[in-house]
Amino acid sequence: MSERMKILEAITSFHRPASVLVIGDLMLDRFVWGEVTRISPEAPVPVVAIERETVHLGGAANVASNLRALACEVMLSGIVGKDPAGGEILEAARQQGIRTSGVAVSSRPTTTKTRIIARGQQVVRVDREEVRSLEEEDEARILACVEEAVSLVDAVVISDYAKGVVSRAVIERLLALSVPLGLSVLVDPKPANMASYFGVTALTPNLREAEAMAGFPISSDRELARAAESILDELGVQAVLVTLGPQGMALFEREGGEYRIPTMAREVFDVTGAGDTVIAALTAGLVRGLSFRDAACFANIAAGIVVGKAGTATVTIGEIEALAQTAP
Ligand SMILES: Nc1ncnc2c1ncn2[C@@H]1O[C@H](COP(=O)(O)OP(=O)(O)OP(=O)(O)O)[C@@H](O)[C@H]1O
Ligand SMILES: [Mg+2]
Repeated sequence: MSERMKILEAITSFHRPASVLVIGDLMLDRFVWGEVTRISPEAPVPVVAIERETVHLGGAANVASNLRALACEVMLSGIVGKDPAGGEILEAARQQGIRTSGVAVSSRPTTTKTRIIARGQQVVRVDREEVRSLEEEDEARILACVEEAVSLVDAVVISDYAKGVVSRAVIERLLALSVPLGLSVLVDPKPANMASYFGVTALTPNLREAEAMAGFPISSDRELARAAESILDELGVQAVLVTLGPQGMALFEREGGEYRIPTMAREVFDVTGAGDTVIAALTAGLVRGLSFRDAACFANIAAGIVVGKAGTATVTIGEIEALAQTAP
């Protein structure tokens, strides 16, 4: 049976309950839309008159959002600040039916990325963030969530943007509890935290992250395979799914070799958050019983759809089904 048929068959089981814990760096993506009316008299910059604002869940919160769109129950853990943006993350997450009891309200500001867009073009992006290690009480809240969640969920996703939530202690506790239960732990990694990932189930680096983790540049398929093998060996993981932007993805399994998947994208509008969609869909496929190979194909279809949408977006099972049915 082809991957496509297996995916279409698996989709029929997506009504079955499945639940995932997402831990990581939560962010808010804010989009401010306006019109450029004139050049400022104060400095050579445009004056943008605001017309409307939209917010989207970003970072680990976007992974949670993508899992919800794929009909998974989601428990979310991380930190937000005691500020309006933190409230907006919690509110948006709850509206989507994401459980937020594992989110700690911390003393640092909520990580916020604000894009100002006029005439269809980004004028500037303004970031608010403070990167530092977790305060003791915030870490305690996350550890408590991990302890509660492991017996309730079918898989765990770590969405690491290296802003401080994914601490050594959190991963160690998580692995100590999930390995005996046979729970899969999937990581969207940041090379700086590589040493903490020893013993997780699978990683989804992009090409740059794979290069940094392997410690050498990748300019050929052979080097890509060598890099993936070194990550598989060094971290003792079962699978490495390297996302390759316009080139799609490459899956390397400890048992099972290499598998290349070309992109399914028909039009590329905005690649923001495509990596979040990949790890969410990979996980949603695995918890419904797909093999790594089929779940990667499923994730590749989801990514191909999401890059055709504006901003940080999600993909539904119906959209994946439609594309899988019509694909050549
Ligand atoms: N320019 C593109 N053309 C076609 N497909 C794309 C493009 N960019 C991304 N994709 C699809 O999205 C997937 C993930 O993209 P990418 O490799 O850019 O991840 P990433 O760098 O982790 O993204 P993020 O910015 O979300 O962290 C790819 O495997 C591919 O399927
Ligand atoms: Mg990424």
